[in-house]
Amino acid sequence: MSIFLAGRRAIFFSGFYNFARHYWVIGTTRQTNDNLVVKDVSHELCLLQVVDLTKCFCICFSEQNQSANVQFIRNVACINSASNYAASTWVLSKVSHQPFNNSTSFLIRTFSVSSAAMTKIQVGAVVDILGDEMTRVIWESIKEKLILPYLDIELHTYDLGIENRDATNDKVTVECAEAIKKYNVGIKCATITPDEGRMKEFNLKQMWKSPNGTIRNILAVDFIVPGPGKLEITWTGDNGEKIQHTVYSFKGPGIAQAQYNTDESILSFAHSSLQYALAREYPLYLSTKNTILKQYDGKFKNIFQEVYDMEYKDKFEAKKIWYEHRLIDDMVAYAMKSEGGFVWACKNYDGDVQSDSVAQGYGSLGLMTSVLICPDGRTVEAEAAHGTVTRHYRQYQQGKETSTNPIASIFAWTRGLLHRAKLDNNQDLKKFAETLESVCISTIESGFMTKDLAACIKGLSNVVRSDYLETFEFMDKLAENLQKQLK
Ligand SMILES: NC(=O)c1ccc[n+]([C@@H]2O[C@H](COP(=O)([O-])OP(=O)(O)OC[C@H]3O[C@@H](n4cnc5c(N)ncnc54)[C@H](O)[C@@H]3O)[C@@H](O)[C@H]2O)c1
Repeated sequence: MSIFLAGRRAIFFSGFYNFARHYWVIGTTRQTNDNLVVKDVSHELCLLQVVDLTKCFCICFSEQNQSANVQFIRNVACINSASNYAASTWVLSKVSHQPFNNSTSFLIRTFSVSSAAMTKIQVGAVVDILGDEMTRVIWESIKEKLILPYLDIELHTYDLGIENRDATNDKVTVECAEAIKKYNVGIKCATITPDEGRMKEFNLKQMWKSPNGTIRNILAVDFIVPGPGKLEITWTGDNGEKIQHTVYSFKGPGIAQAQYNTDESILSFAHSSLQYALAREYPLYLSTKNTILKQYDGKFKNIFQEVYDMEYKDKFEAKKIWYEHRLIDDMVAYAMKSEGGFVWACKNYDGDVQSDSVAQGYGSLGLMTSVLICPDGRTVEAEAAHGTVTRHYRQYQQGKETSTNPIASIFAWTRGLLHRAKLDNNQDLKKFAETLESVCISTIESGFMTKDLAACIKGLSNVVRSDYLETFEFMDKLAENLQKQLK
């Protein structure tokens, strides 16, 4: 679909409907006297999010003489919620054979009927976490085309884009983590973790920590050792007792890192992993390097085993599944040769690295979603587990075509929404999220995909342009198929 707008100001479309003889457009603008020209209108439905409802207007025009019949209706007061848009689709289809230029009041009445006639699925609180670069662009598109047309969500939006983190001295990240704790569902877009290059690019005040690290409360400190000297580590008990180790006597500059964990946190990790394996009915493997980190990783191994033996063994055996500890190297090799079908509990760094290798093995990083679950199972944060796809964003900034895979970001939404559905026993929401996931899969299986997936089939060097869709074409295809499926 292409809509070309000419005028002193660009008009941002909020919704566009196309029926047999008439086109109905709902939009927002600051001024209503722009010269509007619409060409090459396809038969696709496109829904975008309303930005400013006080500036809503409504236009309808006939196929034969598009520009001449444009009508503006100012202050469509009865469109008082973004939730009316999906409803409008239904009502407009009923009235599409009415003469479009009857009167303004007719159209206004139409919309007021629409809001009463059909409602979106009501959804409880969700923390919507904005991110950076290409994934930020995709994020908006997902909300506009796949989520907001169908759901009336209580969205709590936190802008974790790098500029806003810098402007708020990273307070926004902490506030966001608090909101996830409060509302139990966080859905996060990928974000930039600043390094020296990003410091310069965005003129940052500080090299802010990774938001994922802050939200997850990552437990490590690292630093540059400037020169010769002794690196020591000390634990001082509340009763004054001390444990002290000389880690290394540096003869020149170097680096150092200290890590810690708590029994409580490891215990929670064990429960989360064991419960997840039970729910999925898959065996569970914990991987560590306890042969080297005898105390540190030994603690993980012991706690998992104790909890398993005491609380889960019977339940696992009843489902004919099991728990085992494996050395990380052994486990990596096993994962590569196995057919899958197990839950793999990894320590943080191992999980970070191994998830990319598993995702690439399954086709693309663009298919990898991560769901962070609190031990009580009540609070989750879902996100695409890849980065902000900077390489594609640079192309996008230059106005060039991109083909970025949105699937992981869409599944971040569906997994977060499924958790909301579970907490609220919201069956309609559950069905919607499952439908959206199945639409993603069936769309790809029917041959519509982004370039990364086309490369999996043909090999990158053999891929030609007709093998894949560009970023927004693919989003439109998903929106079209979702719309069909939900009818
Ligand atoms: N969870 C997160 O928020 C997260 C994770 C990793 C990296 N990052 C940040 O992302 C930025 C870019 O990092 P990067 O380039 O190393 O990692 P990246 O995951 O953004 O991209 C690496 C490569 O993987 C491919 N790729 C990744 N996602 C894709 C998708 N959806 N569709 C198609 N191809 C895809 C592309 O070839 C890309 O060049 C950095 O600033 C980094 O800090 C954020």
